[in-house]
Amino acid sequence: MTDKELLLLAVEAREFAYAPYSSHKVGAALLGKSGKVYTGCNVENAAYTPTNCAERTALFKAVSEGEREFSAIAVVGGLGDALSDVCAPCGVCRQVLAEFCDGDMPIIMGTPEKIVRSTLSDLLPLSFGKCDLNKQ
Ligand code: THU
Repeated sequence: MTDKELLLLAVEAREFAYAPYSSHKVGAALLGKSGKVYTGCNVENAAYTPTNCAERTALFKAVSEGEREFSAIAVVGGLGDALSDVCAPCGVCRQVLAEFCDGDMPIIMGTPEKIVRSTLSDLLPLSFGKCDLNKQ
């Protein structure tokens, strides 16, 4: 699967975003090592804090279906129908991804016309994780 193909799946997933409060619609596509792709969108809530980001929706879908190893994630977002140049995962999503993903896992962002590539360790340096708790 190419970066662009994964990003286009994130664009499709974004169509399902439920964002009546912020209007910021986000889509994610997470590629499992099995080859299966898990998509997600943000799901907002009137009480605000229960809102779930697109990346976590995708990751929780995957883990709840038995997949725990991942090769890449694509994330797109923006206000209304417009896609931002880059929609980077929030800090909470970076931490949640770090529970299951290696630091060198590619994070694919941007737009289909201009893809921006980073890695989890670039976005979350000096992270706290299972090693700190002696859980390998
Ligand atoms: N959002 C995501 O879905 N992923 C992120 O990484 C950043 C923020 C969502 C949450 C909320 O519904 C909206 O964008 C505005 O913060």
